[in-house]
Amino acid sequence: MSSYLALYERSLEDPAGFWGEAAAALHWEKTWDKVLDLDARPAPRWFVGGRLNTCFNALDRHVDAGRGEQAALIYDSPVTGLKQTYAYRELRDAVARFAGALRAAGVDKGDRVLIYMPMIPEAAIAMLATARLGAVHSVVFGGFAAKELATRINDAKPKVVVSASCGIEPNRVVVYKPLLDEAIAISAHKPSACIIKARPQAEAALTAGRDLDWDAAVAAAQPAECVAVEATDPLYILYTSGTTGQPKGVVRDNGGHAVAMHWTMKNIYNVEAGDVYWAASDVGWVVGHSYIVYGPLLAGCTTIMYEGKPVGTPDPGAFWRVISEYGVKVLFTAPTAFRAIKKEDPQGEYLKQYDLSCMQALFLAGERCDPDTLFWARDKLGKPVVDHWWQTETGWAIAANPMGIEPMQIKPGSPTVAMPGYDVRVLSEDGVEMPDGEMGNIVIKLPMPPACLPTLWGNDQRFIDSYLSRYPGYYLTGDAGFRDADGYLWIMCRTDDVINVAGHRLSTGAMEEVLAGHPDVAECAVIGVADALKGQLPLGLIVLKAGVERDQQTVVGELVKRMREQIGPVAAFKYAAVVKRLPKTRSGKILRGTMVKIADGETYKLPATIDDPAILDEIAEVLRGMGYAKV
Ligand code: COA
Ligand code: AMP
Repeated sequence: MSSYLALYERSLEDPAGFWGEAAAALHWEKTWDKVLDLDARPAPRWFVGGRLNTCFNALDRHVDAGRGEQAALIYDSPVTGLKQTYAYRELRDAVARFAGALRAAGVDKGDRVLIYMPMIPEAAIAMLATARLGAVHSVVFGGFAAKELATRINDAKPKVVVSASCGIEPNRVVVYKPLLDEAIAISAHKPSACIIKARPQAEAALTAGRDLDWDAAVAAAQPAECVAVEATDPLYILYTSGTTGQPKGVVRDNGGHAVAMHWTMKNIYNVEAGDVYWAASDVGWVVGHSYIVYGPLLAGCTTIMYEGKPVGTPDPGAFWRVISEYGVKVLFTAPTAFRAIKKEDPQGEYLKQYDLSCMQALFLAGERCDPDTLFWARDKLGKPVVDHWWQTETGWAIAANPMGIEPMQIKPGSPTVAMPGYDVRVLSEDGVEMPDGEMGNIVIKLPMPPACLPTLWGNDQRFIDSYLSRYPGYYLTGDAGFRDADGYLWIMCRTDDVINVAGHRLSTGAMEEVLAGHPDVAECAVIGVADALKGQLPLGLIVLKAGVERDQQTVVGELVKRMREQIGPVAAFKYAAVVKRLPKTRSGKILRGTMVKIADGETYKLPATIDDPAILDEIAEVLRGMGYAKV
């Protein structure tokens, strides 16, 4: 086994050599002219001049190499009782057929396909089929409401939308079609076709002339071959929360992404072709893109699509059942899932009912793994528990414990060390490097490694403004933390308005826009308060317009409903209160950070620029009334 440090140093000294070698594992229609183009703008580009097809590398390549009969994708759905396995050959054929259906609906290289789907195999098939045609997919998480969907339709301008009649949550059937119809009605851009997978739990009324039934479209289609694209052509756009209601369209290219995904499977997760790998996430999130679909398939692993929850489907033994049933070697999920299991089964009684000897390690990401959760998981499982830190923007871990290179000592609370290609620095507000152990803004010195975003969809300027202009020559992660004397990174909090609810990234700015749109609201603030299960929960504080005499609880109820309708249930916005005034600086900036500290019962320094300190006492009283602000 090589040493982490030697590989890491080489990746920074000779990035072209390092990633050029990694790229040789894939099939290229044409080899690149240049591994790394440092002069490209707005950011350096990888494998310039190279041509490949990501779907070919994820499916056809393995069939051609004799893995056609190996399981590629296992669908396990406790919410419907269904289980289904696709061998590589079957998955390739299903994808080729659906690619033919997309082509018949007008999709060509470079066109966008928006995918709004539950966790069923057709979601992965639609993604891979889009990639097969050299088109660009944009998957939207099913827990978003029509308005959020419309925002993404308007920005990505898809030719075709692929959806299903419904998703299934443990407590209800979520009918997708009315949400999709509403989204298309309110968006300026109109897709020319929608392909809808009918599920028996809900019927979808198809709009004549626009909507096609998935099964009928597939039955009528001819299989489509892979279309080679430039390595720098986009594979997908994935929208993520920024500071405003307008989400950022993170672009992922084909070449760099395929190379990085493939490299991570062995080097970070220590899995190889034939191993079973399970990311218990959703295809709507980056974890789902990278580690339900592309990473495992590019590496020839078996991936699992699980349509269920860690608890309640049917019990807190659900994850252990799946691991033992399919021989899962690596499980990847968010700490919140483990907190949910721990809450229902603190002694790990369900765990004892299953044979987990196949399992090698647990990887956690999406939010910082609190040491308590890590200790519990490690004690109960008796396996290494690896926290790793990454973002939608990077597509793979910035910091991790490289289990396939050199497993390192685990320090609970730290995601371990920077991965090859990431030159991570911690800077002061003035751009000076912080000494070991001192908090600062975490940045990555350019160039970032392959797969990291080259820009935001159709908006180079926003990409530059959001990530590159704060510290020229560096990418701003939006996270703050420090590096310790052993080179371990500690990621402590966000520096912007992004909060993390059950591993889901949400914008408090976007939520404030929704509250501010209510006719009775004069001013508002949304803050992320600590929550034992979900990490953080959004909480709204509202000032009513002068003269509004309505019952405050009625207004709060309307605001909760409004958030669910405009952003979606995933926002988990359930708490809000009316206050007389909001605390501000003399220049008018709302003191959200101070209110978070008050709510979480932490000590805080009275901001020197505060306009009227008495307001903080008023806020504390309201928060105490809601069960927060306990000292
Ligand atoms: N479609 C429609 N609605 C959805 C949805 C989807 N795909 N996913 C979630 N929702 C809804 C839920 O039903 C819930 O609605 P409710 O307010 O009516 O109960 C709401 O959105 C919030 O969902 P969630 O955050 O999942 O909370 P939960 O209470 O249902 O479950 C956990 C809590 C911890 C079990 C759950 O969040 C979980 O499994 N998290 C794992 C984290 C994860 O996968 N992160 C991805 C990054 S790795
Ligand atoms: P997302 O883009 O949804 O993956 O969210 C990325 C953000 O989640 C990061 O910028 C961090 O704020 C947070 N995050 C993800 N993983 C970790 C981790 N392992 N430790 C600390 N924060 C994390």
